[in-house]
Amino acid sequence: MSHEKVEKNIGLMAILVTIVISIGGLVEIVPLMFQSETTQPVEGLKPYTALQLEGRDIYVREGCYGCHSQMIRPFRAETERYGPYSEAGEFVYDRPFQWGSKRTGPDLARVGGRYTDEWHRVHLMNPRDVVPESNMPGYPWLAQNRLDGKSTQRKLEVMRMLGVPYSDEDIATAADAVRGKTEMEALIAYLQVLGTANNGR
Ligand code: HEC
Repeated sequence: MSHEKVEKNIGLMAILVTIVISIGGLVEIVPLMFQSETTQPVEGLKPYTALQLEGRDIYVREGCYGCHSQMIRPFRAETERYGPYSEAGEFVYDRPFQWGSKRTGPDLARVGGRYTDEWHRVHLMNPRDVVPESNMPGYPWLAQNRLDGKSTQRKLEVMRMLGVPYSDEDIATAADAVRGKTEMEALIAYLQVLGTANNGR
């Protein structure tokens, strides 16, 4: 009888379906918020420096995530090409994380240290100067734009509020650490640190 009531009443059915799915979702998601595997940084992981954090924001602003993922999956084809697969603990200071979902270009989770700063500079100015068949756009304005550091301190403060362990000194010196640097320098500083904490695993 009661089953018939549910089947004939689409509103009631929708509510019950929502409740069931919510419980299923909570059971899967909530434990992740408390497991040390997903909430504790891997050994050697450091918060981004002020310059690297500015670089991260340029990465986001320019939409690099539209073509690049930052997550190596635990499959042989991936680890042979990119290096050790990504672990949750590598991303605990990434807010928001840049895992991405589209790979027009290669994964960047372990690109740190793979090339020299100079290679990145030439590549970002015009990718075809180093990879002739590349369809990645150039970003020459990054070499012109300079950081004024005005919002850098606030950015670190917000990150600290979210749980990234910046010291008072990190925050006090943040603006001076980036002022006058080009956006290119900041972005390269960011790229060069990606995946380096867990590289030798
Ligand atoms: C339209 C898609 C596209 C966008 C947008 C894009 N890339 Fe790329 N990227 C590629 C492709 C394709 C390659 C492979 C060819 C090459 O090396 O240029 C690549 C290669 C790279 C490499 C070398 C990776 C390796 O392991 O060899 C880096 C580093 C990189 N991109 C960084 C960036 C950054 C930083 C941005 C944003 C400022 C960006 N890309 C935006 C498509 C893109």
